[in-house]
Amino acid sequence: MTTITPQHIRAWLERSAQTFEAQKGYLSDLDSPIGDADHGTNMARGFAKAVEKLATTPDADISALLKTVSMTLMSTVGGASGPLYGTFFLRASAAVAGKAELTLVDLAALLTAGMDGIVQRGRAEPGDKTMIDALLPAVNALKASVEQGTDLITALEGCVSAAEAGMQATISLQARKGRASYLGERSIGHQDPGATSVMYLLAALRDAVKG
Ligand SMILES: Nc1ncnc2c1ncn2[C@@H]1O[C@H](COP(=O)(O)OP(=O)(O)OP(=O)(O)O)[C@@H](O)[C@H]1O
Ligand SMILES: [Mg+2]
Repeated sequence: MTTITPQHIRAWLERSAQTFEAQKGYLSDLDSPIGDADHGTNMARGFAKAVEKLATTPDADISALLKTVSMTLMSTVGGASGPLYGTFFLRASAAVAGKAELTLVDLAALLTAGMDGIVQRGRAEPGDKTMIDALLPAVNALKASVEQGTDLITALEGCVSAAEAGMQATISLQARKGRASYLGERSIGHQDPGATSVMYLLAALRDAVKG
Protein backbone atom coordinates (compact mmCIF):
# COMPACT_ATOMS: atom_id res chain seq x y z
CA MET A 1 0.00 0.00 0.00
CA THR A 2 1.48 3.32 -1.03
CA THR A 3 -1.39 5.80 -0.86
CA ILE A 4 -4.27 6.87 1.36
CA THR A 5 -7.65 7.03 -0.38
CA PRO A 6 -10.86 8.88 0.57
CA GLN A 7 -12.16 5.48 1.77
CA HIS A 8 -9.22 5.23 4.18
CA ILE A 9 -10.01 8.71 5.49
CA ARG A 10 -13.67 7.77 6.03
CA ALA A 11 -12.57 4.58 7.78
CA TRP A 12 -10.19 6.65 9.94
CA LEU A 13 -12.95 8.99 11.06
CA GLU A 14 -15.39 6.13 11.69
CA ARG A 15 -12.80 4.23 13.73
CA SER A 16 -12.04 7.42 15.66
CA ALA A 17 -15.73 7.80 16.51
CA GLN A 18 -15.86 4.16 17.67
CA THR A 19 -12.72 4.54 19.77
CA PHE A 20 -13.88 7.77 21.41
CA GLU A 21 -17.24 6.16 22.20
CA ALA A 22 -15.47 3.11 23.72
CA GLN A 23 -12.89 5.21 25.61
CA LYS A 24 -15.19 8.04 26.61
CA GLY A 25 -15.26 7.02 30.27
CA TYR A 26 -11.49 6.61 30.41
CA LEU A 27 -10.81 9.99 28.72
CA SER A 28 -13.23 11.79 31.02
CA ASP A 29 -11.67 10.03 34.03
CA LEU A 30 -8.26 11.36 32.94
CA ASP A 31 -9.85 14.83 32.72
CA SER A 32 -11.32 14.49 36.22
CA PRO A 33 -8.31 15.18 38.51
CA ILE A 34 -6.86 17.97 36.31
CA GLY A 35 -9.94 19.28 34.49
CA ASP A 36 -13.71 19.08 34.43
CA ALA A 37 -14.18 15.41 33.49
CA ASP A 38 -15.68 16.10 30.06
CA HIS A 39 -12.95 15.28 27.52
CA GLY A 40 -14.32 11.81 26.71
CA THR A 41 -17.90 12.98 26.29
CA ASN A 42 -16.69 15.95 24.22
CA MET A 43 -14.73 13.75 21.81
CA ALA A 44 -17.39 11.02 21.58
CA ARG A 45 -20.15 13.55 20.89
CA GLY A 46 -18.13 15.50 18.32
CA PHE A 47 -16.99 12.47 16.33
CA ALA A 48 -20.40 10.78 16.43
CA LYS A 49 -21.91 13.92 14.92
CA ALA A 50 -19.08 14.19 12.36
CA VAL A 51 -19.61 10.61 11.17
CA GLU A 52 -23.34 11.28 10.93
CA LYS A 53 -22.60 14.29 8.65
CA LEU A 54 -20.13 12.28 6.54
CA ALA A 55 -22.80 9.67 5.85
CA THR A 56 -24.78 12.28 3.92
CA THR A 57 -21.76 13.47 1.85
CA PRO A 58 -21.12 10.33 -0.26
CA ASP A 59 -18.91 11.77 -3.02
CA ALA A 60 -16.75 14.07 -0.94
CA ASP A 61 -13.00 14.16 -1.61
CA ILE A 62 -10.39 13.96 1.17
CA SER A 63 -10.22 17.70 1.72
CA ALA A 64 -14.03 18.00 1.87
CA LEU A 65 -14.28 15.09 4.35
CA LEU A 66 -11.78 16.76 6.67
CA LYS A 67 -13.54 20.11 6.33
CA THR A 68 -16.87 18.55 7.31
CA VAL A 69 -15.25 17.11 10.43
CA SER A 70 -13.76 20.50 11.26
CA MET A 71 -17.08 22.33 10.94
CA THR A 72 -18.89 19.68 12.98
CA LEU A 73 -16.33 19.66 15.80
CA MET A 74 -16.33 23.45 15.99
CA SER A 75 -20.11 23.58 16.28
CA THR A 76 -20.75 20.57 18.54
CA VAL A 77 -17.74 20.43 20.89
CA GLY A 78 -17.33 23.29 23.31
CA GLY A 79 -14.46 24.06 25.65
CA ALA A 80 -10.84 23.95 24.62
CA SER A 81 -10.73 20.81 22.53
CA GLY A 82 -13.59 21.65 20.10
CA PRO A 83 -11.97 24.74 18.58
CA LEU A 84 -8.50 23.14 18.78
CA TYR A 85 -9.43 19.89 16.99
CA GLY A 86 -11.70 21.93 14.69
CA THR A 87 -8.69 24.02 13.67
CA PHE A 88 -6.58 20.87 13.26
CA PHE A 89 -9.04 19.43 10.73
CA LEU A 90 -9.56 22.78 8.96
CA ARG A 91 -5.83 23.22 8.35
CA ALA A 92 -5.47 19.53 7.48
CA SER A 93 -8.24 19.95 4.91
CA ALA A 94 -6.54 22.96 3.31
CA ALA A 95 -3.19 21.14 3.20
CA VAL A 96 -4.57 18.37 0.96
CA ALA A 97 -6.92 20.46 -1.21
CA GLY A 98 -7.32 18.98 -4.69
CA LYS A 99 -5.59 15.68 -3.88
CA ALA A 100 -7.46 12.49 -4.83
CA GLU A 101 -5.08 10.30 -2.79
CA LEU A 102 -2.33 10.96 -0.26
CA THR A 103 1.26 9.78 -0.21
CA LEU A 104 3.32 9.62 2.98
CA VAL A 105 4.67 13.08 2.09
CA ASP A 106 1.09 14.41 1.79
CA LEU A 107 0.16 12.83 5.10
CA ALA A 108 3.13 14.48 6.81
CA ALA A 109 1.99 17.81 5.33
CA LEU A 110 -1.58 17.19 6.53
CA LEU A 111 -0.54 16.44 10.12
CA THR A 112 2.01 19.26 10.21
CA ALA A 113 -0.57 21.80 9.03
CA GLY A 114 -3.12 20.52 11.57
CA MET A 115 -0.60 20.72 14.40
CA ASP A 116 0.50 24.22 13.38
CA GLY A 117 -3.16 25.26 13.50
CA ILE A 118 -3.51 23.97 17.08
CA VAL A 119 -0.34 25.80 18.10
CA GLN A 120 -1.49 29.07 16.51
CA ARG A 121 -4.90 28.81 18.13
CA GLY A 122 -3.89 27.54 21.57
CA ARG A 123 -0.36 28.94 21.88
CA ALA A 124 0.87 25.80 23.65
CA GLU A 125 4.57 25.06 23.62
CA PRO A 126 6.11 21.59 23.85
CA GLY A 127 6.15 20.53 27.51
CA ASP A 128 3.01 22.49 28.47
CA LYS A 129 1.13 19.18 29.03
CA THR A 130 -1.31 19.42 26.11
CA MET A 131 -2.24 17.53 22.95
CA ILE A 132 0.91 19.04 21.38
CA ASP A 133 3.08 16.79 23.57
CA ALA A 134 1.71 13.73 21.73
CA LEU A 135 1.27 15.38 18.33
CA LEU A 136 4.73 16.93 17.92
CA PRO A 137 6.73 13.70 18.45
CA ALA A 138 4.24 11.89 16.19
CA VAL A 139 4.66 14.44 13.40
CA ASN A 140 8.45 14.40 13.84
CA ALA A 141 8.48 10.60 13.60
CA LEU A 142 6.46 10.79 10.37
CA LYS A 143 8.83 13.40 8.92
CA ALA A 144 11.80 11.19 9.81
CA SER A 145 10.09 8.31 7.98
CA VAL A 146 9.69 10.56 4.91
CA GLU A 147 13.43 11.31 5.03
CA GLN A 148 14.27 7.62 5.36
CA GLY A 149 11.87 6.52 2.63
CA THR A 150 9.96 4.22 5.00
CA ASP A 151 6.79 2.55 3.72
CA LEU A 152 3.44 4.01 4.75
CA ILE A 153 2.37 1.36 7.28
CA THR A 154 5.76 1.26 9.03
CA ALA A 155 5.74 5.07 9.11
CA LEU A 156 2.29 5.06 10.72
CA GLU A 157 3.42 2.48 13.31
CA GLY A 158 6.34 4.75 14.23
CA CYS A 159 4.04 7.76 14.34
CA VAL A 160 1.69 6.05 16.84
CA SER A 161 4.58 4.77 18.99
CA ALA A 162 5.93 8.32 19.22
CA ALA A 163 2.48 9.65 20.16
CA GLU A 164 2.19 6.97 22.87
CA ALA A 165 5.58 7.89 24.30
CA GLY A 166 4.68 11.59 24.22
CA MET A 167 1.36 10.85 25.91
CA GLN A 168 3.10 8.85 28.69
CA ALA A 169 5.60 11.65 29.16
CA THR A 170 2.80 14.13 29.96
CA ILE A 171 2.35 12.38 33.33
CA SER A 172 5.42 14.04 34.82
CA LEU A 173 4.76 17.45 33.26
CA GLN A 174 3.20 20.47 34.94
CA ALA A 175 0.30 21.94 32.95
CA ARG A 176 0.83 25.43 31.59
CA LYS A 177 -2.23 25.71 29.34
CA GLY A 178 -5.95 25.19 29.75
CA ARG A 179 -7.93 24.27 32.86
CA ALA A 180 -5.21 21.92 34.19
CA SER A 181 -2.80 24.86 34.51
CA TYR A 182 -4.95 26.28 37.35
CA LEU A 183 -3.68 23.37 39.48
CA GLY A 184 -0.04 24.37 39.16
CA GLU A 185 2.26 21.68 40.57
CA ARG A 186 -0.74 19.53 41.51
CA SER A 187 -1.21 18.79 37.79
CA ILE A 188 2.00 16.71 37.92
CA GLY A 189 1.43 12.95 38.10
CA HIS A 190 -1.62 12.86 35.80
CA GLN A 191 -1.73 11.89 32.13
CA ASP A 192 -3.09 14.62 29.88
CA PRO A 193 -6.48 13.72 28.36
CA GLY A 194 -5.87 15.71 25.15
CA ALA A 195 -2.52 13.99 24.52
CA THR A 196 -4.37 10.71 25.02
CA SER A 197 -7.08 11.55 22.47
CA VAL A 198 -4.36 12.52 19.96
CA MET A 199 -2.83 9.04 20.41
CA TYR A 200 -6.24 7.40 19.82
CA LEU A 201 -6.80 9.52 16.71
CA LEU A 202 -3.45 8.48 15.22
CA ALA A 203 -3.95 4.83 16.20
CA ALA A 204 -7.30 4.91 14.37
CA LEU A 205 -5.53 6.32 11.30
CA ARG A 206 -2.93 3.54 11.39
CA ASP A 207 -5.61 0.88 11.76
CA ALA A 208 -7.75 2.37 8.97
CA VAL A 209 -4.83 2.41 6.54
CA LYS A 210 -3.78 -1.12 7.53
CA GLY A 211 -7.37 -2.20 6.83
N1 LIG B 1 -3.98 25.94 24.70
C1 LIG B 1 -4.02 24.63 24.44
N2 LIG B 1 -3.31 24.11 23.41
C2 LIG B 1 -3.37 22.79 23.13
N3 LIG B 1 -4.12 21.91 23.81
C3 LIG B 1 -4.84 22.38 24.85
C4 LIG B 1 -4.84 23.74 25.21
N4 LIG B 1 -5.67 23.89 26.28
C5 LIG B 1 -6.17 22.68 26.56
N5 LIG B 1 -5.68 21.77 25.69
C6 LIG B 1 -5.99 20.35 25.63
O1 LIG B 1 -7.37 20.18 25.83
C7 LIG B 1 -7.57 19.10 26.72
C8 LIG B 1 -8.89 19.30 27.48
O2 LIG B 1 -9.94 19.17 26.57
P1 LIG B 1 -11.46 19.25 27.05
O3 LIG B 1 -12.29 18.65 25.97
O4 LIG B 1 -11.58 18.62 28.39
O5 LIG B 1 -11.74 20.77 27.11
P2 LIG B 1 -11.83 21.67 28.44
O6 LIG B 1 -10.48 22.18 28.75
O7 LIG B 1 -12.55 20.90 29.49
O8 LIG B 1 -12.67 22.87 28.01
P3 LIG B 1 -13.65 23.68 28.97
O9 LIG B 1 -13.28 23.29 30.35
O10 LIG B 1 -13.33 25.09 28.63
O11 LIG B 1 -15.01 23.19 28.60
C9 LIG B 1 -6.36 19.09 27.60
O12 LIG B 1 -6.10 17.80 28.09
C10 LIG B 1 -5.24 19.58 26.69
O13 LIG B 1 -4.58 18.49 26.04
MG1 LIG C 1 -12.41 19.13 30.17
